[in-house]
Amino acid sequence: MELDFIKEMFDSIAPRYDFLNRLLSLRQDVYWRRTMISALDLPDNATVLDVACGTGDVLIEILNQTGNQKLVVGADFAPEMLKQAKIKLLRENFSPDIQLIAGNALYLPFAPDTFDAVTIAFGIRNIMDRKSALSNFFNCLKSGGKLAVLELATPGSKFFLSLYLFYFSRILPLIGAFFSKHMKAYDYLPASVINFPPPDKFAAIMKQAEFTKIKWRRLTMGIATVHIGHKE
Ligand SMILES: C[S@@+](CC[C@H](N)C(=O)[O-])C[C@H]1O[C@@H](n2cnc3c(N)ncnc32)[C@H](O)[C@@H]1O
Repeated sequence: MELDFIKEMFDSIAPRYDFLNRLLSLRQDVYWRRTMISALDLPDNATVLDVACGTGDVLIEILNQTGNQKLVVGADFAPEMLKQAKIKLLRENFSPDIQLIAGNALYLPFAPDTFDAVTIAFGIRNIMDRKSALSNFFNCLKSGGKLAVLELATPGSKFFLSLYLFYFSRILPLIGAFFSKHMKAYDYLPASVINFPPPDKFAAIMKQAEFTKIKWRRLTMGIATVHIGHKE
């Protein structure tokens, strides 16, 4: 039920998703993905899985930064988001070898020890059973592999927090509803961010899923956070 709502929501906003991301984040989303991929420090010829790949921006960032990965796979459960990803990858002349897979983060169809890195950007917040999702990512990583999680967060500073919450809860849903024509999607966004655990609590869930050497970095005054964890 919860998953059906999320899937339907992303399917219906898919054509406007990129435009709204850039507008509502004032293009910070591009910088955040870039920071997440450079923090991974991918080896040459790495195999990388991007979960909840949406319209493919993380896949494109991986290829732009490294250019020579052996295997890059994007997985998402919303077919319309994957359709946008396919269109974009073809338009930007990326290799047709990039695999896009319709799949749920909770039931990934990959053998253990497949990937050097797993990434997820703005996806884990939508998955209630985060520990199971993180354990799935852990399983399909090779030993020595890394996980990167990029997620929206609420800023630490009290002054900035009140400004941010005003924008996020009052202005953003109006702009989102106007352009996406989806009345609930951009109401859901602030609620899901506010309810997401703070960085230390999320790191504790990563630890429960067996990740080690967990580090995080706050970006843009704490509006987003990147977590990196290792599989020993
Ligand atoms: C906010 S978008 C992020 C898309 C992309 N990663 C980006 O950086 O823009 C969240 C994506 O997560 C996907 N998603 C949410 N829950 C999922 C799940 N359980 N399994 C697979 N995909 C999921 C949605 O379909 C959507 O495409």
